[in-house]
Amino acid sequence: MEFPFDINQLFSERISILDQNLVASRQSKEKPDLRVKIATVLDELGEASAKAQDLPAPITSASKLQFQKHQLYLMKDGESSRGRGVVVGFLKVGYKKLFLLDRNGVHIEVEPLCVLDFYIAENLQRHGYGLELFNFMLQHQNVEPVLLAYDRPSTKLLAFLAKHYNLRQSVPQVRHNFFFHATSLRRVKKP
Ligand code: ACO
Repeated sequence: MEFPFDINQLFSERISILDQNLVASRQSKEKPDLRVKIATVLDELGEASAKAQDLPAPITSASKLQFQKHQLYLMKDGESSRGRGVVVGFLKVGYKKLFLLDRNGVHIEVEPLCVLDFYIAENLQRHGYGLELFNFMLQHQNVEPVLLAYDRPSTKLLAFLAKHYNLRQSVPQVRHNFFFHATSLRRVKKP
């Protein structure tokens, strides 16, 4: 995704980690123009992701990120667009308290790290960027894919998880459409 400003000026790393402060940790929090541009990028990414998933409204935006304790991994390609850089996509994660059903239909309370939103620009999908971004997040969070919960996974995400991490088995949930691997239910179940 191209923007009418220099993406490399906003994001110095190939993958930047954004949180409630909006700006990446290594950047100055004092520059308001920087924050406005970052907000524009986040809002456009959120809209593109919602469109790709057929959602009625974006679940990612600058204002939502400011009020939620989520972490957003943003990937750029710094070489493209004559050296100004393009945004490749993003992955948003956060902890959520969930009431899930185990295999016996018993409710259990868990608070796993959840994959909340994940998007790679249309023209760049199926080039391995999603895998690179996901693996970066796994390393940063020090977690395995099997221990994560996936919020309303799209068919593309389910195919992605099956292909790269061999994650296929899930326990259907009644109240939340979370994809949750049966193994992780056993691991996170409260005593
Ligand atoms: N149809 C089916 N499977 C797909 C598709 C597609 N159009 N695109 C990617 N995949 C899956 C396949 O398993 C594919 O392997 P294959 O090409 O051999 O079939 C694999 O992903 C490719 O892996 P990557 O190239 O690393 O993945 P990519 O960069 O495309 O990123 C992502 C995956 C984020 C799901 C991307 O396809 C995308 O943005 N899709 C649209 C938005 C979306 O559905 N996001 C997930 C929302 S659900 C949530 O966030 C909890």
